[in-house]
Amino acid sequence: MAIEAFLEALDQLAQAAQRTFEAATDDESLEAARIEFLGAKNGRLKTVQKGLGAVPGPDKRAAGQRFNEVRDLIQNALQNAKERIQAGSSGESASDPRFDPTLPGWTRRMGRQHPIAQSIAELVDIMGRLGFSLEDGPEIEDERHNFDALNIPSDHPARDPLENFYISGGDSQVLRLLRSQTSTVQIRVMENRKPPIRIIALGRVYRPDTADPTHYPMFHQMEGLLVDRHVTMADLKETLRLFANCYLGTDVQVRFRPSFFPFTEPSVEVDFFWNDRWLEFGGAGMVDPNVLRAVGFDPDEVTGFAFGLGVERLCMRRFGITDIRDLYTNDVRFLRQF
Ligand code: DAH
Repeated sequence: MAIEAFLEALDQLAQAAQRTFEAATDDESLEAARIEFLGAKNGRLKTVQKGLGAVPGPDKRAAGQRFNEVRDLIQNALQNAKERIQAGSSGESASDPRFDPTLPGWTRRMGRQHPIAQSIAELVDIMGRLGFSLEDGPEIEDERHNFDALNIPSDHPARDPLENFYISGGDSQVLRLLRSQTSTVQIRVMENRKPPIRIIALGRVYRPDTADPTHYPMFHQMEGLLVDRHVTMADLKETLRLFANCYLGTDVQVRFRPSFFPFTEPSVEVDFFWNDRWLEFGGAGMVDPNVLRAVGFDPDEVTGFAFGLGVERLCMRRFGITDIRDLYTNDVRFLRQF
C-alpha cells in the first residue's frame, strides 16, 4: 500500500470520527461511536492500522507517526464528547439552553455577632478599662445565692413562685431556680475572695414575665461590685457616670433616685438622660452590712458599692431598637442591621 493511500485513509477516518463523536448526544450513541472507531477488534482505527504493514519500509516511520496523531485525535474527540454529555446532564454547559449565564451567582455573606453579644463585648471592654474584671456564675442557682445571702427575707415577694422559675425534682434537698438576678455572682465571688474586689458579672437572668416590647422571660444583666476600704457613694456615682459616657456618649447624664433593695443600703435607682428623656437602666447602692457579714467580711473594715443594669436596655438604647422581642425572634433580616 502506497503511503499516500494510507494517509488518505487516515484523514478520512479522522474526519468521520470527529463528526460522529460530535453528533453523539447521550451515553448510548457515544458508546456506539466508541465501538465503531476505537473498538479493539473491528474498530475502524484497527482496520486502518492493518494497512500500516503494507506501507513500504522507508515510508513506515512517517506513516506510523501520522497514525499515532490520528489515534490521539480520535481519543480526544471521544473524551470531549464524553465531557460535553456529562456537563449537559448537569445543566452546566454553556450550549445548553437551560443554562443561563446571566443569573447572579451565589453571594457569601459575612456572619456577624448578635447585638447583645456585641454589647456584652463592649461592656466588658469598658468596665475592664475601669479596672473591673469579668466573673461568671451558674444560671441554675440555689436560694442562698439568689436570696438568703443577699439579705432578702424569707417572706419577701421577690421569692414568690410567680416571680421565679423554680426547678422541681433533683435528688438534693436544696431548692433551686433559674437565677432571677446576677447579684448572685456578688455572693459567689465574695465567698471565695478577700477585698479588694472589683468585678462585673454579665449574663442571663430569668423571670416569668409575659413578653412585650420591654419584657422578656430571659434577659441579661451587668452586675458590678466593688469592695474595699473607704468606698463611698461618690465612687459609685463616678463609676456609673464614666460608664454611661463611654457606652452611650459623652452627652449622657446620670441621675440617682432613692429606692430600696434588700442587699444595698442606701439604694438608688439609676437613670440615664438621653434623647430628651430620663430612662431607668437599673439599680445600685452601697452593699448592705448584712451582705458583707453573710460572706464573712467585717463591715467596719470594708465597704462596697454594687449595681445591676439591664443589658437589653443598654443595647436597645444604643442601637435604636424599640422592641426587646426583636432581639430574640432571630429574624436575620433584622439582626443583619447591627
Ligand atoms: N438585682 C437587682 C434587680 O435585678 C438590680 C440591682 C439593684 C443590683 C441594686 C445591684 C444593686 O447590684 O446594688 O432588680
